[in-house]
Amino acid sequence: MEFGSFLGIEDFYYLRKISGAMKNPRTRFNDTMFIEEGEDYLLPYLADNVGPVDETRRKFIKGVVFGIGAIAAASVLDAVRGLQVPLAGENAYVKMLLVDSTGTAVKASSVPVNNPVIVLYEYPLTNEINFLLNLGDTSGNPLALASTSVTIPENGSTYTFPGGVGANKSIVSYSAICQHLGCKPPNIHYYPPQYMKTGLTFPDFLPPDALAAAQKANLPGIIHCDCHGSTYDPYHGAAVITGPTQRPLPSTVLEWDSSTDQLYATGSIGVPVYGHTSTLSGGTTVSGTSSTVSNSSNPFTS
Ligand code: FES
Repeated sequence: MEFGSFLGIEDFYYLRKISGAMKNPRTRFNDTMFIEEGEDYLLPYLADNVGPVDETRRKFIKGVVFGIGAIAAASVLDAVRGLQVPLAGENAYVKMLLVDSTGTAVKASSVPVNNPVIVLYEYPLTNEINFLLNLGDTSGNPLALASTSVTIPENGSTYTFPGGVGANKSIVSYSAICQHLGCKPPNIHYYPPQYMKTGLTFPDFLPPDALAAAQKANLPGIIHCDCHGSTYDPYHGAAVITGPTQRPLPSTVLEWDSSTDQLYATGSIGVPVYGHTSTLSGGTTVSGTSSTVSNSSNPFTS
């Protein structure tokens, strides 16, 4: 079903939220109850799991789902459940130098390995924040990160993560907005090897299942979202390790100039940044030819 032909952008976002709730094991949609009770089941479900259903939302839902007849309603909800988002292209991205707060170019060799501090910059739009990570092993040595195929669990498609950059090929960058329901740092952040343990306090709530999944995959660290437990593999393109997310974090493409040791953001690979129908729409382009990297905080207090 082609929703895009008749939906406004707000409607699209709303349907994406519904899709996320339906696929979340904790808020699983009960098809049988929906068929038996119709809107008496659907509307309270949406109110409980997606957000308030005001009169505008109520009319929208009734128009989309029930306005076409009861038999077709189930297939519409199947389409919502499987709502796909288009892959981002790289055609219109601009190349931006990464600079610090003084405007000085960030040198790849100065990016700390296994840094627990949340390091962010905006690219390519001002409301699209990204992690900048220099990944290492448990001894703090930079790890060379190879190109690898990343699977999007939501639809089974794949794309190629280009690997790390810098002299050690250990520097990567990912969208810092969780692909489940859009949580941002500090709720989502990198757990370096020295913090791969449970029992830490919020916002470092690493649950045992995420730790176990990381250990099973032999990962020194992970990106974890405290909001609902999504876990991503930063060593392999921010692939999904544990849900509820069904989409990897988009990879922000970095270019390293070996003659200057400078870093540039040049594009995005994978699904669009959360909340955007495309990574290049739904915000204002970062101005100029550079984007400022900021060390926002160290979330680890223990
Ligand atoms: S927003 Fe739900 S796990 Fe991140």
